[in-house]
Amino acid sequence: MKKQLLVLLITVFIGFGAIAQTKSSETNVLVLIYSQNGGTYKMAKAIAEGVQEYPNTKAILKRVPSINTKEKLNAEVEKLPVATIEELANYDGIAFGSPVHFANISADMNYFFSQSIPLWTSRTLEGKPATVFMSAGSGAGKEAAILSFWNILASHGMVIVPTGIMGTATLDKTVPQGNTPFGATSLAGSTGTRPSQSELNLAKEQGKALARVASGLKNTANIKGVKTTSIESKSDINKTLKDNNIVLPEAPKPVGNYVPFTISDHKVYINQVALKEGKILNPGKVGATVTEDQAKEATYQTMLNVIAVLKEACGGDLNKVKQCVQLTGYFNTTPEYTQHAGLMNSASNLTALVFGEKGKHARATIGAASLPINSVVEIQAIFEIE
Ligand SMILES: Cc1cc2nc3c(=O)[nH]c(=O)nc-3n(C[C@H](O)[C@H](O)[C@H](O)COP(=O)(O)O)c2cc1C
Repeated sequence: MKKQLLVLLITVFIGFGAIAQTKSSETNVLVLIYSQNGGTYKMAKAIAEGVQEYPNTKAILKRVPSINTKEKLNAEVEKLPVATIEELANYDGIAFGSPVHFANISADMNYFFSQSIPLWTSRTLEGKPATVFMSAGSGAGKEAAILSFWNILASHGMVIVPTGIMGTATLDKTVPQGNTPFGATSLAGSTGTRPSQSELNLAKEQGKALARVASGLKNTANIKGVKTTSIESKSDINKTLKDNNIVLPEAPKPVGNYVPFTISDHKVYINQVALKEGKILNPGKVGATVTEDQAKEATYQTMLNVIAVLKEACGGDLNKVKQCVQLTGYFNTTPEYTQHAGLMNSASNLTALVFGEKGKHARATIGAASLPINSVVEIQAIFEIE
């Protein structure tokens, strides 16, 4: 019993919501890339150099995860820290780098952004400066590729920083270069001799330009009244559920001497496991009998159950929810397992998607030796209602 308690407490991560704000007075710029062979990475280092040349500005270089985890990445790229979609909210500006793939951005970068719906609907990236740089082969379609990246940034309401004719005065015009008015690129080809010095200079100028805009706009999102037409104030949770094809299950019935929820001082307290149609979805232990994808699916189902119970607590009207205060996720894992936060994001992302700003919550995740009826996850939730 003592041993079980010890194991239960093995891993506790306490976060302050999926989206925390950086408090530093320094301007923080994320340089976020996908790069398979290292061409984009070389450009990213020059971008970061330019960012850091701007006073009181720091560049943080990260990569997006690969869709194909077996894919061999350039050794230097492999060592970069991997960014999460939620952390984009934490920076004052972001430089995005991708290889040109068929006159478009890479599938991996595109997939990363396909997970940005909660950031999109909560308008979190609105007004944040962003710029795009790329590594190409021959350069065919490089401008179309940058512009297709701009479509995503514009959808998020980001302030796009172009490069105009920056750096062209010193451009070596004896060979083709990757300069564009939209952002720096490199014509990497297959010779391994690129980026050229001219292309690195362009990237550096671009980094500096982004840092300048990021420093100027820093903290302006927090000025009262900036979000004048908040979709949140008019949002209808039922419409959000419908628009996102989210069908709430029937609220699971209690199987012991307890009630599905209690309300105290406008706070609703709910605990659920991964029940689906009367059976536990993907039962077992992460790291032994259950894969991470199965655990994420079970976590999503558990959060759906929480919201279904919450709806009952609100008398059928989820628009009465004022805030998701806290989520705690217990995961049935092997003692060595440490990626609880990644599993819990399935619940956090769903909460942010359904409730927008009101879905921002504090969070804890905990590894457990076992959970009731062999569920891989149990979620405790606290919501504030009207
Ligand atoms: C699937 C695929 C599609 C590509 N399409 C283009 C293209 O349309 N135009 C181009 O100039 N290069 C193209 N390339 C070449 C890459 O853009 C080039 O090799 C780039 O430098 C790779 O960047 P990285 O070293 O950061 O991975 C393509 C490469 C791949 C693998």
